[in-house]
Amino acid sequence: MTYDPGHITGAMVAARIERRWTAISIGIIALLIVMAAYAGIHQAVMPQPRVETADPRTLHIAGEFIESNLGSAVEPDGSVTVRAVGQQYSFTPQCIVVPADTPITIRATSADVVHGFLIEHSNVNTMLVPGYISTIATRFATPSERVMPCHEFCGAGHEGMWGRIKVIDKATFMKLAADRRRMTCVAQ
Ligand code: CUA
Repeated sequence: MTYDPGHITGAMVAARIERRWTAISIGIIALLIVMAAYAGIHQAVMPQPRVETADPRTLHIAGEFIESNLGSAVEPDGSVTVRAVGQQYSFTPQCIVVPADTPITIRATSADVVHGFLIEHSNVNTMLVPGYISTIATRFATPSERVMPCHEFCGAGHEGMWGRIKVIDKATFMKLAADRRRMTCVAQ
């Protein structure tokens, strides 16, 4: 067979189509990398900086997640740390209260199975895995009330597992927090 430069063979057509699809799949990968970088840098959605553990069998007996230590606490630097536990089928505290325009660190874990932890209209979207502490940093610009659904299937009562978060005025929060060690909506 002689080589004819003007003659398009089936193999050439196949090679051209393969190059096109290779370019498209590289484009999709590049787009996903840009999206992940945007979410990480702009929306502050980061992987855990380190692994911290908490034994789900002894959460209620001792340590950071004992019931009296759950809720919102003001740190010496003026930021607020929220500690919470998820269990079938509720969160403790069921209603979280935080100040507006303040750096918030949420530390939460699960007492039984994997639960979801999401606060609507925020960067808070993580999972509560038994044995591990999930940490997420956030900030709420203005006072508002938001829902906090468990968004990970965790059993028969999953769809009824909802919490709430109340973002209140910073001065009001600090005044209320002055004579309480831990804050929840109930204790307001
Ligand atoms: Cu907890 Cu779904």
